[in-house]
Amino acid sequence: MKQHLKRALELLFVPFAAAIVFFEQVLIKYLNVAMAAFARLPPIARLEAWLITLPPYGALLTFVMPSVLILPIKFWAVWFGAHHRYTLALATLIAGKVLATAIVARLYRILRPTLMTIRWFAWADTHFFYWRDRAYAFVRSLPAWQKAKALIERSRTWLTGLVSGFLRARSAQERYSARMAEPRIVPTEAALGARVEGLDRTQIAKPEVASLLKKALGDHLLLEIPGAPMTPEQTRDFAAAFGKPRTQLLRYKRVEAVPEVSVMVSTLMKDGTTDKTALRSEDWHTDDSYFSTPAKATLLHSIDIPSRGGNTWFCNMRAAYEALPDATKNRIDGLRAIHAYDTPRARNRPSQRTAQEIAETPDVEHPLVRTHPDNGLKALYLNFNRLDRIVGMARAESDALLDELAAHCRQERFHYAHKWTVGDAVIWDNRATMHRVDVDYPMGEKRVMQRVLIEGDRPF
Ligand code: OGA
Ligand code: MN
Repeated sequence: MKQHLKRALELLFVPFAAAIVFFEQVLIKYLNVAMAAFARLPPIARLEAWLITLPPYGALLTFVMPSVLILPIKFWAVWFGAHHRYTLALATLIAGKVLATAIVARLYRILRPTLMTIRWFAWADTHFFYWRDRAYAFVRSLPAWQKAKALIERSRTWLTGLVSGFLRARSAQERYSARMAEPRIVPTEAALGARVEGLDRTQIAKPEVASLLKKALGDHLLLEIPGAPMTPEQTRDFAAAFGKPRTQLLRYKRVEAVPEVSVMVSTLMKDGTTDKTALRSEDWHTDDSYFSTPAKATLLHSIDIPSRGGNTWFCNMRAAYEALPDATKNRIDGLRAIHAYDTPRARNRPSQRTAQEIAETPDVEHPLVRTHPDNGLKALYLNFNRLDRIVGMARAESDALLDELAAHCRQERFHYAHKWTVGDAVIWDNRATMHRVDVDYPMGEKRVMQRVLIEGDRPF
């Protein structure tokens, strides 16, 4: 009986979840892209530049305005419905919804910094997101949700395949070589990571290749992809298979023509001019946690490597969380922590920031245990370089807890080392891993990497 009830509920839930997934992952995403393109038109750009200068309550008024203006459209829909013109009523409702979502999402992007200066708004915003994210995490961990997501993903792949098939009818020879080019995913023997063999990097934009790699990254948290060195443009396009490339904080590392790609020089210099980021990477960290919305993944691509040493180590933070005693899990679930650009707890000091970069990196708060948005699994969210203290705890107590968790994560059973070869592309999931580099390579031997960050979500 219970089984039947469960199945019946699931039957109802799958189309419902599919509709939400579609709304959240497809509609909002493309609406944002469309609005961003729209915002490049000079009059719109001028309007947006002016909106930023509004005082807090002016911004608030502007923010609620579209919802008010959309009301007549809703009445209109009702009117159509009342006159038995149901198709028109439904079409008006859908168009109104899409329009309102597009405008409100864009306004939220632009006005949020101003609105956050209103105290009650900041409070409401934080709590709203907190509860919304928790609710989503719960829903995302349900099997019906996973099914709905797979359904959407499959239909998207199928549609894209169909469209590209129409655009370019392939010969039998091409179809054969495309099948042969199917890469193989070979997991490491360690706690995380897999090697991608036989990938033709020029095929990365193909939906079936991209979704295979994305799934592999989700399963293994770290992918090692050997190949030839790439230009910054190629690296950016390659990384784009995993999500949207994003510029990093420190301007001086960015490639001017391709700002989403940074060049990280970790060559050790005798005269003491070694880049600070290189030394800082020596201890366990996750990238970008000093942002309220950190990058979900990082891709590192080796251009020059030293003759020995310089391995990059990875730690599986999901496994580390799961291995904690239940008492510790209960103690830390729900705790929040402050991540700062610098903290006296870090082993090394960070790079210098410009005034603008300092303004962009205020202290932020993140959960100590993070839920993965794709599968609802929990992981410890630590960063030995940035994590300053637990919210609501005295310094000594907070230090003791952070030290205890750090010691737990330093156990080798959670680790795996990547040994670099020139041309490797390595990508990892920042939401469920930490990484560090062995600063043990010969002085003066070049170590140069290209790096791309992939846009992520707010941790919950
Ligand atoms: C990074 C990083 C480690 C390395 O780029 O975020 O930590 O091996 N790099 O260079
Ligand atoms: Mn790093």
